[in-house]
Amino acid sequence: KGIFEHVMIKKYLVIGNPIEHSLSPKLHNYWIKKNNINAVYEKKQLKENDINNIISEVRNGKIDGINVTVPFKKLVISFIDKLSSEANETQSVNTICKENNKIVGYNTDASGFELAIRKTNYDVKGKKVFILGAGGVVPSIILALKKMGTSKIILSNRTKKKAEALKKIYSDLEIIDWGEIPDFNMIINATSLGLKEDDEIKLNYADIGPNKLFYDIIYSPSKTKFLSKAKQFGNQIENGKTMFAYQAQLAFEIWHGIKPTIDTKILKLLDND
Ligand code: ATR
Repeated sequence: KGIFEHVMIKKYLVIGNPIEHSLSPKLHNYWIKKNNINAVYEKKQLKENDINNIISEVRNGKIDGINVTVPFKKLVISFIDKLSSEANETQSVNTICKENNKIVGYNTDASGFELAIRKTNYDVKGKKVFILGAGGVVPSIILALKKMGTSKIILSNRTKKKAEALKKIYSDLEIIDWGEIPDFNMIINATSLGLKEDDEIKLNYADIGPNKLFYDIIYSPSKTKFLSKAKQFGNQIENGKTMFAYQAQLAFEIWHGIKPTIDTKILKLLDND
């Protein structure tokens, strides 16, 4: 450590709006410390107009990496020089860095979801999956599900136009009206319904019956009504905590070249109830 230390501290950021509840700084800073890396990870709430500027800071070396969250995962693409195959396919970027003087956009959400599902030991191969919502993370989920060999993906969103737009990327997606419930083996809540205590997704749990997998992208609260009711009716449940941890792990590896550990202590760190 010497007089040049100040220029050696690497700076990382998560950008989004809202951002105050993001647990990315907590997780990344924990790993940074644990691996003795000279870096700091912060969060920044942005407006759409600020995106160009913040990515210029990666170009000029003031910032070393950016995580992108709602609602900018697609918007950032126009400021990026090169996309990973997953980022290109999903048109969604959650991890940015500079490589060989090029701004590169990665998507670690898709692999994060895949690793999380594999961890549950639920085999999605040949299964019918019903997705609720069409927000920023949904293209990544669809990519991962297709890779894992699901037989059919049905999707429903309050604003049907946004669901239909996903068919431009995934033409074999089946879109149904909001409120309609198809036959399925696994259901994913990818809406923001459940973040608030009173939020409810109208489902007839008795009709849907037991032994399905209910997956909620939300992990704070750790058990949404969607999950607690599903469990009450004999279904397997899983929240988005491991997906969140895995997408962060993959981003960390891209930036620092080290695969940090995900253990019970880490998962505890992410319990926000
Ligand atoms: P973004 O859409 O900006 O990417 P998101 O948090 O990733 O943000 O997505 C929010 C998702 O929750 C959307 O699918 C949204 O539906 P709309 O496209 O119709 O807005 C869904 N959502 C949010 N509040 C909802 C509500 N009260 N009822 C039904 N769906 C809701």
